[in-house]
Amino acid sequence: MIIEVENLVKNYGEVNAVNGISFTVNEGALFSFLGTNGAGKSTTINVLTTLIKKTSGNVFIDGINIEKSPEKIRKLIGIVFQDSVLDGNLTVYENLCVRASLYPEIADIKSTAKHALKLTGIDYGNRRYKTLSGGQRRRADIARALLHTPKILFLDEPTTGLDPKTRGDIWELIRNLQKTNNTTVFLTTHYMEEAADSDNIIIINKGEIRAEGTPVKLKEEYCKDRLRVTFKTGEILKKELAKTTDAIPFLLENKDKIENVEIINGTLDDVFLNLTGGLTDVN
Ligand SMILES: Nc1ncnc2c1ncn2[C@@H]1O[C@H](COP(=O)(O)OP(=O)(O)OP(=O)(O)O)[C@@H](O)[C@H]1O
Ligand SMILES: [Mg+2]
Repeated sequence: MIIEVENLVKNYGEVNAVNGISFTVNEGALFSFLGTNGAGKSTTINVLTTLIKKTSGNVFIDGINIEKSPEKIRKLIGIVFQDSVLDGNLTVYENLCVRASLYPEIADIKSTAKHALKLTGIDYGNRRYKTLSGGQRRRADIARALLHTPKILFLDEPTTGLDPKTRGDIWELIRNLQKTNNTTVFLTTHYMEEAADSDNIIIINKGEIRAEGTPVKLKEEYCKDRLRVTFKTGEILKKELAKTTDAIPFLLENKDKIENVEIINGTLDDVFLNLTGGLTDVN
């Protein structure tokens, strides 16, 4: 286990942002943290990446207690923040060079920056960051997080605000990094269907874990398939199914009376809505 979190609590004064969560992440996994606005996703990431101090609980990254050796943790991790931290007036390449120069272990700054550009498929390294589109910026943010080849990459909403095609591209990039370098990826997202591609999911609501498991397991447990039958009389029947094959006996029995049949599979969106009462708003 590369990440171990035990009973983590984070309060901001009166605000109880994270309320006793425990989970583990396997090395090399793609792990998604799902939740509505204000659920506690960024707070959790900020604690795990040593940016803020926890109120109580224990966190181990690669076996190291984050409180005992935060500087060791920072060498192991790369972070892509919810809001970008690159300098708009510098080019992407310049941004990467400035950042790389902060790591004493990086000997050849220029070649490290170029390698990060290549890894993330950026062919616009000489353009100023502020002139880039949202998707291009995200790629640059990811390149920045990869400079010191971290074992774990944290991404806080890497795809929010991007169009569906660009979201797909960013996901492909993340997946490739995870597979080729065996990088552990810990990300947060609002988009349920994206998480369907991850190895493990945690759904968090109001600072507490509501559900946890593989996408398949979550769908099995928390959403139902539905059968919708239109009879020749025009009457419509809707029925929930534990599994789609449960429809077969009913359909056989009524086959002469049925005009049309639809089976609607449950989605991760259903799981999420069932567990959280829905998205309040999307940023
Ligand atoms: N610095 C802070 N001071 C006080 N309260 C905070 C602070 N940061 C976050 N909070 C509160 O903690 C709770 C969790 O916030 P957090 O940013 O972790 O949520 P999130 O899941 O990342 O939400 P979003 O999807 O909107 O990014 C919210 O109620 C938020 O208002
Ligand atoms: Mg957040």
